[in-house]
Amino acid sequence: MLEIHRASVFYPGREGTDAVEALRNIDLEIGPGEFVVALGASGCGKSTLMNLIAGFLAPSFGQLRLDGAPITGPGRDRAVVFQKHALMPWLNVIDNLAFGLKLQGVGREERYGVARRFLTLLGLEEFETSPVYMLSGGMQQRVGIGRALTADPRILLMDEPLGALDALTRERAQELILHIWQSQNKSVFLITHSVEEALFMGTKLIVMSPRPGRITHRFDLPFSRRFLAGQTAREVKASPDFIEMRETVLRIIFADEEQAA
Ligand SMILES: Nc1ncnc2c1ncn2[C@@H]1O[C@H](COP(=O)(O)OP(=O)(O)OP(=O)(O)O)[C@@H](O)[C@H]1O
Ligand SMILES: [Mg+2]
Repeated sequence: MLEIHRASVFYPGREGTDAVEALRNIDLEIGPGEFVVALGASGCGKSTLMNLIAGFLAPSFGQLRLDGAPITGPGRDRAVVFQKHALMPWLNVIDNLAFGLKLQGVGREERYGVARRFLTLLGLEEFETSPVYMLSGGMQQRVGIGRALTADPRILLMDEPLGALDALTRERAQELILHIWQSQNKSVFLITHSVEEALFMGTKLIVMSPRPGRITHRFDLPFSRRFLAGQTAREVKASPDFIEMRETVLRIIFADEEQAA
């Protein structure tokens, strides 16, 4: 479905300095229903890669295609959730959820119908008319994810969406995203700094290394499916093969860091 072929990105250097090679020769496919997670040290180009997929940025070399057609800019088929939610603080929860649809010119009845569906899915019914500034960070992030989903994108792009949450809220949010992923049948591209989160959520993991940003390792992951098949998050994360994989990935990341230092 989404194909990235030998994509490279150079950012112009500041006056007199060389261009920054942020990504080099990225090859990646995201198929229907796939959950791809990107992990890597700060500055390895994760957000740059997401911005390519979102169409906010064009590659310096290489191609990105969605269903065979070149990506030339942002589109409704791809929705983005940023680390800092971009909610409208003066609107209440339901109006935030309906906001994107309003911009698209969707009629009042239809957009509130869609918004209410997501309100229920996110477990925020009680807060329908609460102003978003009164919600906790975790709830605000849920509203942000819901708003991205109201446009019914094919691919949900998330850049460190849960980074600011405490451990318990974060695990609850991971579970919620997995349930949404399953029930809405979306493809997901998620960026995280947490190895545990990456392993728990993804069906595919890419590990990136900096200067220039490349994909150095790829893994297929079984863990999110175990959770969706009925194991608890704690059971999944405490299982021996999960722990072994976690240590493998941590070793890779620390080795990369030492090489870069
Ligand atoms: N607009 C820009 N102009 C110049 N250089 C940039 C620009 N955006 C990013 N870079 C550089 O490109 C590299 C990759 O940046 P990017 O933001 O994609 O990394 P990242 O993996 O998302 O990092 P983090 O984990 O800190 O969010 C970095 O060296 C960064 O300094
Ligand atoms: Mg980033």
